[in-house]
Amino acid sequence: MIIAIDGPAAAGKGTLARRMAAHFGYAYLDTGLLYRATGWKVLQSGGDPEDAEAATAAAEALTPTELNNPDLRLDEAAQAASKVSAVPGVRAALLQFQRDFAHKPPEGKPGAVLDGRDIGTVVCPDAPAKLFVTASVEIRAERRLKELLEKGIEAIPARVLQDMKERDERDSSRASAPLKPAEDAFLLDTSTMDAEAAFAAALSFVDGKTKTI
Ligand code: DC
Repeated sequence: MIIAIDGPAAAGKGTLARRMAAHFGYAYLDTGLLYRATGWKVLQSGGDPEDAEAATAAAEALTPTELNNPDLRLDEAAQAASKVSAVPGVRAALLQFQRDFAHKPPEGKPGAVLDGRDIGTVVCPDAPAKLFVTASVEIRAERRLKELLEKGIEAIPARVLQDMKERDERDSSRASAPLKPAEDAFLLDTSTMDAEAAFAAALSFVDGKTKTI
């Protein structure tokens, strides 16, 4: 079983994907981490994340241990990720790893939950259950701000909103695997939902799908 969860930043897909994986006993892959690790590596070596050659080389050399770096959660890593993710060579380099994870989940788990931007459209177009999780950009910026404050990081609200809009624009307008819902995805707008309500709605959709397989 493969559950594909896509959507823009801070829509709640990570929380939802983790809960879903725990509920079904499936493996979970946060695919954004692959792009964050690639972007971060380019930044650390003094390169430009928009340099296709440097970004592709970084993606090709990525190792699983690099995904554990806590710095990947920084907004700087998110912006770099959004830049390297527009490079077709980067997407090609990361594709097989994601597909292998989905089709042969680690530890012999009976299924996998992957979250990202193009899981339902490109990585696993045959996934039996696809969700597209979204929320208004203002709500998502508010959630991100709250997250930052909880971590003790000071942030300017207008700046967080601006960064979010820039990332949405870059992720949606790129030519290679842009952020968009798969035609057969269940659209879940979490603007007025808490994590509990989002989980309940997603679960009832996925339960319906597993019964028909
Ligand atoms: O989900 P996230 O915020 O960790 O993702 C960081 C960036 O990585 C995001 O702005 C776009 C890119 N990304 C992608 O292009 N495809 C994915 N499947 C996951 C993330």
